[in-house]
Amino acid sequence: MIVVKSRSGELLRVEGFRIRVFEKLSLPSIGERLRAIREAGWNTFLLKADSVFLDMLTDSGVNAMSDRQLAAMITAQDAYAGGRSFYELASVVEDLMGFKYVIPVHQGRAAEHLLAKTLVREGSVVPMNYHFTTTKAHIELAGGEILEIPVREALDRRSMHPFKGDMDVAKLEEALRKLKDRIAYVRIEAVANLLGGQPVSMANIKHVRELCEKHGVPLVVDASMIDWNIYFIKEREPGYGSKSLKDILREFLSYADIVYMSARKAPSVRGGLIATNSREFYEKLVVHLPVYEGFLTYGGMSVKELAAMAVGLAEMVDESLIGSELGLISYVVEELDRKGVPVVLPPGGLGVHLDALEFLPHLPRTSYPAGSLASALYLVSGIRSMERGALSMDRDKYGREIYPDIELVRIAFPRKTYLRSHADYLIDRILWLYEHRDYVKGLHWLYEPPILRFFLGRLEDVENWGERLAEAYRRELGEY
Ligand SMILES: Cc1ncc(COP(=O)(O)O)c(C=O)c1O
Repeated sequence: MIVVKSRSGELLRVEGFRIRVFEKLSLPSIGERLRAIREAGWNTFLLKADSVFLDMLTDSGVNAMSDRQLAAMITAQDAYAGGRSFYELASVVEDLMGFKYVIPVHQGRAAEHLLAKTLVREGSVVPMNYHFTTTKAHIELAGGEILEIPVREALDRRSMHPFKGDMDVAKLEEALRKLKDRIAYVRIEAVANLLGGQPVSMANIKHVRELCEKHGVPLVVDASMIDWNIYFIKEREPGYGSKSLKDILREFLSYADIVYMSARKAPSVRGGLIATNSREFYEKLVVHLPVYEGFLTYGGMSVKELAAMAVGLAEMVDESLIGSELGLISYVVEELDRKGVPVVLPPGGLGVHLDALEFLPHLPRTSYPAGSLASALYLVSGIRSMERGALSMDRDKYGREIYPDIELVRIAFPRKTYLRSHADYLIDRILWLYEHRDYVKGLHWLYEPPILRFFLGRLEDVENWGERLAEAYRRELGEY
């Protein structure tokens, strides 16, 4: 954002870009929405994008791209091996992130696959501030387990702690002492996706780094949404207000031995990377690249995306371009909170997060409150959000449900994509649903896949509640 002083003396934040390409949206009627969500097995992942009005499923691969990114796609050098675009990317990674070695991969989970393959063994433990679905799956597939140690405030949706993504350093120290030989690496995710997009402070990562060094364990940073994390450090952490985003990024990543990211997120392309200064880690990781991803200078990515990634990384620290979606998220969170709707506080990155257990207190966890809420929200608005609760966890090895600490519905704000009127529509429809929440009765399985079940699973609305919610909607608000 461009920040200037207004006439009244307050700060005025103005977007430092304009929109020159737009996509027409259409709003399906309530009848069409009911049909679509039934056909999708009450799973918002299985909705066709053409049945969706505002696609707020994720920020992944759907951020607006800049003119300079699109230009870079045209001038990208399309070579199988040794292409110029790779070396340009490597030089941006070195200058901006401070790492000598970079490995491109086709997306974030490919980085997680290579890391787990290289560093995780049967019986390994990976302490982390919080898990992400694909991270957990890769660590477990390699025979390891995760140990989540967020700060206490992270699981209290009302806590206004400015850095709810922080790791509990006392618990980390205890784990490092007790489990020393089993710890493959320590992982910090910044911002923490499943905690509601909450950031990690510089003080915290510095402390974690000191502990890792003391115990000789590598620190891995998942920097998929690092743009939002460094923005919050600048806004919220004492001593960082006058530092540039680039300096904050360099310092944050200087504490990591290995950093990886889904480039579908902060850099606004479709790809991923792993970076490190350790020749040893680089060599261990890179041998797997030609087997699973592609040659070292494209790693499974389109070279066009790789060239755009270099530009996207640099734009992450351009202060005039960053933060417009954070302003919208804050606006929606504050409005909903004022009206008593249970949202995760304080406003974080990534999106607006509804607490499904509080929103639908009449539903037992066995009937998947967050999944029910995400599909009900689609039904009453055409807005696609994502379940981030029990459905997003897989069962344990004995077939028992694992209920996560928090059961959220995430309404993502892809970068530079939606406007204030979209935010107002979202607020209005959430408020209507909140007033009619008793209609929502839960979901049960029709088809449950054994792994990452939330992607492909199909469910059904208990007692046909969708029909009755749609009827109430039609009575009060009409077809749209
Ligand atoms: C924090 C985090 N790590 C890893 C991933 C996986 O990245 P990808 O979807 O590109 O495979 C994601 C995806 O959303 C993420 O949010």
